[in-house]
Amino acid sequence: MSDLVRVDNVGKTFTLHNQGGVSLPVLANVSFVVKEGDCLVLHGPSGAGKSSLLRMLYGNYKCTQGRIEFRHRNSWVDVAKADPRDILDLRRHSLSYVSQFLRVIPRVSAIDIVMEPLLLRGTDEKISRDKAAEMLERLNIPQRLWTLAPATFSGGEQQRVNIARSFIAATPVMLLDEPTASLDAKNRDVVIELICEVREAGSALIGIFHDELVRERVASRRIEIQSYNAAEAA
Ligand SMILES: Nc1ncnc2c1ncn2[C@@H]1O[C@H](COP(=O)(O)OP(=O)(O)O)[C@@H](O)[C@H]1O
Ligand SMILES: [Mg+2]
Repeated sequence: MSDLVRVDNVGKTFTLHNQGGVSLPVLANVSFVVKEGDCLVLHGPSGAGKSSLLRMLYGNYKCTQGRIEFRHRNSWVDVAKADPRDILDLRRHSLSYVSQFLRVIPRVSAIDIVMEPLLLRGTDEKISRDKAAEMLERLNIPQRLWTLAPATFSGGEQQRVNIARSFIAATPVMLLDEPTASLDAKNRDVVIELICEVREAGSALIGIFHDELVRERVASRRIEIQSYNAAEAA
């Protein structure tokens, strides 16, 4: 299996410009490699910097130190250095981010939100719609909601629409930030199945899961993200 992600000696210190320029060191010396089919679980206490690390991987937060490389179009892209256009291209083809929150677009129906990633890839409209219906059904979204905009859906329903949209068109690398956070056991099991399916198809996942049972079922490997003071002492 070939490498898809190489993270080398990454660190992050936030500078709080609106609070007198205070420096807040969060991460130091994080290194790992992720291969096709891997599911790397980031483990560690609340506030350790797990979500920040995912945002750095996605190119939303800048690294203060180190390299984050993704395999992309048969070459390597370092998001710590890439310009915004390269990051957008990387996201279009090779990298996605799945949070527990759906970005609600006013007046766009659930099924249209779910099928959009397939349409953007050039998939036929009818095939995209059928696939979206299948995903919504798997995630137990009642059919009467499919044509409604998710703004008024419950938190768990929005989360499941978001998961349907993310997994309908899996990318080679997927970043997951607590995707099962407000789901019941039945829907949590569906997400675990989806994760296993995309891994079998060769995608790699890097995720944060608050639930030990989920971690046990999905992880091929774990790394401990220590709180900064503990990392410095070690
Ligand atoms: N944009 C930001 N600006 C300043 N501090 C931040 C920012 N994002 C996160 N932090 C701080 O970084 C630390 C790690 O947060 P986070 O990555 O959310 O931890 P985790 O996901 O492990 O619970 C926290 O102390 C948090 O307050
Ligand atoms: Mg977090």
